[in-house]
Amino acid sequence: MKFVLATHNPNKIREMGAILGQFGVEVVSPKELGITVDVEETGSTFAENAMLKAKAICELAKLPAIADDSGLCVDALNGGPGGYSARYGGPGLDDTGRWQLLLKNMEGKEDRACRFVCAIACVLADGETVTVRGECEGELLHENHGAGGFGYDPLFYVPECTFGELAPEVKNRISHRARALGRLRDVLKDKI
Ligand code: IMP
Repeated sequence: MKFVLATHNPNKIREMGAILGQFGVEVVSPKELGITVDVEETGSTFAENAMLKAKAICELAKLPAIADDSGLCVDALNGGPGGYSARYGGPGLDDTGRWQLLLKNMEGKEDRACRFVCAIACVLADGETVTVRGECEGELLHENHGAGGFGYDPLFYVPECTFGELAPEVKNRISHRARALGRLRDVLKDKI
């Protein structure tokens, strides 16, 4: 069965495509279908926002859809930036500007515990919906390491190195996204 990935983020498309490809799931991006609509994230949880995106793109594409809503939750910032990870600091910042702002806001904070959270929502051809979640625990470094991955990866330390220093295939085995998509595969295996 072919799924449309309900995101325009090339990094998510690359990672989700690689993980789902290992499960034998074929995917297509909205862009490949001529869909340019940006779905507004008006939900209050990762799961709600993922479902909003999956439903909207499923309807436009007339294909089953899989959406990711994710973010970095830092204990010392009461779970922030969380659902605002992509918008942290406002529209003027790129990935580097956002992690630099995060480092600044973490200055002097000793508790560096954090986790990446990923909610995956899926809408099937018959309208049935599934939501799953994956998390990956880590620590926020005081400086960036590695140029791989995207977003906050250069700061996110899992024992031995950051996500930014991991080979893509290793990140795609242990990440919050990999964990959520693994759960989706378990739920879908009898349905598709
Ligand atoms: P969303 O499009 O609202 O789900 O935003 C997700 C944001 O969370 C991304 O733009 C990144 O800033 C951050 N994020 C999510 N997953 C990852 C990851 O695997 N590595 C680094 N940053 C991530």
